Amino acid sequence: MAPNDLLAEITALVGSAQEAAWIVEESEKLLSDDSAIAVTAREMAERRADGEPLQYVLGSWQFRTLELIVDERALIPRPETEQVVEAALTRWRESRVGAESFIAVDLGTGTGAIGLSLERELRDEVSIQEIVLVDRSHDALSLALENIVALGAQRVSVASGSWFEALTPSLKASVHLLVANPPYVALRDRGALAQELFYEPQDALFAMDAQGIPGFRDVAYLLENVIPWMAHGGVVAIEMAEHQVGPACEFATDRGLAAVQPILDLAGKLRGIVGVVQ
Ligand SMILES: C[S@@+](CC[C@H](N)C(=O)[O-])C[C@H]1O[C@@H](n2cnc3c(N)ncnc32)[C@H](O)[C@@H]1O
Repeated sequence: MAPNDLLAEITALVGSAQEAAWIVEESEKLLSDDSAIAVTAREMAERRADGEPLQYVLGSWQFRTLELIVDERALIPRPETEQVVEAALTRWRESRVGAESFIAVDLGTGTGAIGLSLERELRDEVSIQEIVLVDRSHDALSLALENIVALGAQRVSVASGSWFEALTPSLKASVHLLVANPPYVALRDRGALAQELFYEPQDALFAMDAQGIPGFRDVAYLLENVIPWMAHGGVVAIEMAEHQVGPACEFATDRGLAAVQPILDLAGKLRGIVGVVQ
């Protein structure tokens, strides 16, 4: 089949010329034989037409400077999280605390997107002692490990367990940069969400309410427990829902985080907070 005919067929199946182009391109990357490319592209297009997220269909997705392996074992990394990493790096670069023996933690790592971005973007700038990727999902950690290997990341380890319980106690008072994107979608919003979200691990998305704030439980837990893990001057950045940012700034300040500021995404929406431990 001529390449243009295949592209037209896939476009008709998925209803988007751009998505069809990505699907055909991905099939061509995987295979060399024309008929095998067509078969694979059709299979991918059918999955997409059934409603599966494009990122899972393609099996890889861009996050900041990285091409990550993505599949249903972990949440698809989002552009707003790229902005949380940007805010974390910007704040950390103001002090460069720990640059000579740098320790970072990514809590709720999923694909490893955040921690692996820190490794890639800081490795020529600092001496990395350790970057720890934490998740309580074994599926997510197996995917994060695949990404560590695929990207050749150095001094990045994974730790299995719930939030700080996964960390070795020797890391207490030692972390220079901690970034987290915990679940923060309120359960009450479940019914209103796009069908595509149900392909993603539900534990990665939804959180219970806390402090009278929908979906705030994991964010609150992290803010309440983070300080003992941080080195003096260490930076904490946490992604959360827009409605949580205002209360979280106050909550974090009350619990000892200094210079707390909101993080905005590229659309100008509130997306998280960043602060410093003094
Ligand atoms: C919103 S996803 C973020 C994934 C990834 N960091 C990203 O930004 O694409 C939240 C992640 O937190 C993990 N998680 C949920 N509860 C957890 C807990 N109690 N301890 C550790 N990880 C948890 C989920 O398995 C999921 O991978």
